[in-house]
Amino acid sequence: MPNTVQIVVDGKTLTYPLVEGTEGERGVDISKLRAESGLITLDQGYGNTGSCQSAITYIDGDKGILRYRGIPIEEFGKNADFIEVSWLLIFGRLPKKDELLRFRSRLTANAHLHEAMKHTFEGFPITAPPMAITSAMINTLGCFHPEFFSLKDEEVLEEAAARLISKIRTIAAFTYRRVNGLPYVYANPKLRYCANLLHMMFSMPYDDLVVDQEIETAMNLIFILHADHEQNCSTSTVRMVGSSKANLFASCAAGVCALWGPLHGGANVEVLEMLEQIHSGGLTAEKYIEIAKQKASGVRLMGFGHRVYKNYDPRAKMLQSVCEKLLKKLKVKDPLLDIARKLEELALKDQYFIDRKLYPNVDFYSGIIMRAIGIPTNMFTVMFAIGRLPGWIAHWKEQHDDPTSKIARPRQIYVGPVNKHYVPTEQR
Ligand code: SDX
Repeated sequence: MPNTVQIVVDGKTLTYPLVEGTEGERGVDISKLRAESGLITLDQGYGNTGSCQSAITYIDGDKGILRYRGIPIEEFGKNADFIEVSWLLIFGRLPKKDELLRFRSRLTANAHLHEAMKHTFEGFPITAPPMAITSAMINTLGCFHPEFFSLKDEEVLEEAAARLISKIRTIAAFTYRRVNGLPYVYANPKLRYCANLLHMMFSMPYDDLVVDQEIETAMNLIFILHADHEQNCSTSTVRMVGSSKANLFASCAAGVCALWGPLHGGANVEVLEMLEQIHSGGLTAEKYIEIAKQKASGVRLMGFGHRVYKNYDPRAKMLQSVCEKLLKKLKVKDPLLDIARKLEELALKDQYFIDRKLYPNVDFYSGIIMRAIGIPTNMFTVMFAIGRLPGWIAHWKEQHDDPTSKIARPRQIYVGPVNKHYVPTEQR
């Protein structure tokens, strides 16, 4: 197999090296293209452009494969432990017992926020979108931990990662309490990560929530399945911001903003709104599918399709079975689940979706699970951010530790006006 490619530009043959990854993916290294030819490449949305080489997550979109540090995500389903997977993603291997214990105790010791941050929460209107509060509070968190603005060694990074992963959970819970006018509930050091989140969200000072083991397991799996997904929009944003040597908190706060978009992490909210729209009697599943197939409608089957998966998103498969099991265990009969099953059944045999390789993605079932747990729709994408945070930290670290990394600075093809001159106001 040749390890170079050639392009002919203005009669000149230029040769560029092929880079091959450990799973056989190949890319053309064009880092010298502009210097040698004056050309740049143009790739709207970067669907054909690699921004880096990474050892964190591997996706095979055609085969529906997702592996974290080489481990298939299906293997995390048995004893789902989000904190163990977070350590794996950030440090590149499964933690030894003492390492995991140390990481857990760091999370427990850092679940609280600086008391002054409560005033910041109070500064938001109760109508503030939770993703806006989450992004702002992650940056605010950085103001209380300036010692983590530069992360020189792994020990300090582990402490910073533990604090961020622990405190984003408290930020999410306090955000929920703020927008609902409820008193803040502090973390209980005896509870594990996911149970503590639900405790801080739903306990009352006079009535501690007892978290069902099945619900705790479902939350662990939701966070694990959202933990990383290679160069998706929000992770690429974290890398872009981090490439200017911006600190970890600022980079992750930017990631929250990218995740907020309805085409990305915000899709889980859109899925619920779509299901509720059908349930409220406005539309049947069949009618909705027909509308989603008409481009002019601007309507999409939310939770379907993916930039990379042209097969069933393996996360959607796992979340579908979590959804079925949990609702059965909780004896929840959710008509929206029946509608979701109907939409999936119709779409999977509809030529429009088959031709375009549109399958359920991670967002299709996650919302129904969170709704069954009692998490309100406007907090769904915040839950996604909690899950994705370890992936953002892992990618920020991978780039930060790479001595060859440079500030990200894409080029463009200029298509604006040419040779214009300044015209004084009275002559315009
Ligand atoms: C996430 O990148 C990641 O890894 C993201 C993520 C992660 O973990 O970080 O996996 C999380 O963001 C999942 C995706 C969540 N978004 C949605 O569910 C929103 C609905 N899906 C789409 O908008 C769409 O599928 C995207 C944005 C996800 C992917 O879009 P693509 O691959 O760029 O596809 P496209 O927009 O170029 O569309 C190709 C064709 C078009 O039709 P034609 O022009 O060929 O006639 O497919 C159609 C589109 O109109 N199409 C859909 C559709 N998705 C694509 N038609 C109806 N419903 C849809 N959902």
